[in-house]
Amino acid sequence: MTRGIQSRSFLTLQDFTPSEITLLLTTAKQFKQMKMLGIPHRQLEGKNIALIFEKPSTRTRTAFTVACVDLGAHPEYLGKDDIQFGKKESVEDTAKVLGRMFDGIQFRGFSHETVELLAEHAGVPVWNGLTDRCHPTQVLADFLTIEEQLGKLKGVKLVYVGDGRNNVANSLLIGSAKMGLHFTIASPSSLFPEQALVEYAQEVARENQGSIIITDDVKKAVHGADAIYTDVWVSMGEEDLFAERIQLLQPYQVNGELMEATANPYTIFLHCLPAFHDLNTDVGKKIFDQFGLTEMEVTDEVFRSKHSVVFDEAENRMHTIKAVMALTLGR
Ligand code: CP
Ligand code: NVA
Repeated sequence: MTRGIQSRSFLTLQDFTPSEITLLLTTAKQFKQMKMLGIPHRQLEGKNIALIFEKPSTRTRTAFTVACVDLGAHPEYLGKDDIQFGKKESVEDTAKVLGRMFDGIQFRGFSHETVELLAEHAGVPVWNGLTDRCHPTQVLADFLTIEEQLGKLKGVKLVYVGDGRNNVANSLLIGSAKMGLHFTIASPSSLFPEQALVEYAQEVARENQGSIIITDDVKKAVHGADAIYTDVWVSMGEEDLFAERIQLLQPYQVNGELMEATANPYTIFLHCLPAFHDLNTDVGKKIFDQFGLTEMEVTDEVFRSKHSVVFDEAENRMHTIKAVMALTLGR
């Protein structure tokens, strides 16, 4: 039986049961259909939503903004230089002020403790739009995309390749355990996720007929994969680590050879984006000048191949974020 999601914050998938995650995904599918059919779905008419961003964002910012507008709510973007947040006013006091004015607060930033502090003091639902520890709204979109492509989540063999201890990897680990996927992280052992999180996920996975494997053997890991997932080698805030990560992660690049190693012609490719797959970005050009790489975590060939569902995944951020806001703010 699903407990109510109403009035709750959405900080990590650890706080949600498999049936609550299923409800979020089902609701997202309904919103997607309504959007396609042009059926109004203004469940949040008259609500005001604060969108706090300490870090840059394309998808999360625009998904929350369009989701708010489609749901009839007013989004207010609060960038790191727009408010006193943490500089002249504590997170606790800011949370109390924003909670008096807004019905819900999205936070994207550095420390996970900040989003927890906001949720503790705001008195309204707070949604995690990415912290150093996790990126739960991303994984809802990933799961909606996998379901659309493969017709199910339970039993799907999902292999994440790359930086195994970043926010996206952590949230995939938790989400996969909850939803009964067979989830593998293939990364160098120095980038394995925290042992305590792995043990938690393995226990939850067992309860849900799934499994969790953490390995540095990438070729073996991807064999039989239904879905391959990667993320950037250097996350926001870690920019001084490029040299070290390039050295460690080059054998974990998602390229044609790795896709062949799945031995599955129908494997789908996922990436939360943004991705370094060509030289059409400033950072990409700088990396090329410094290290001679034309691509990083995924080759342009795979990124643009028929396996790639990355732009469905990006669109699904909006539909899933609508579900998170509508169910947590629901009447
Ligand atoms: N995937 C994702 O969170 O993208 P943005 O950083 O553009 O929001
Ligand atoms: N791991 C990446 C995800 C970006 C959506 C980062 O934190 O930069």
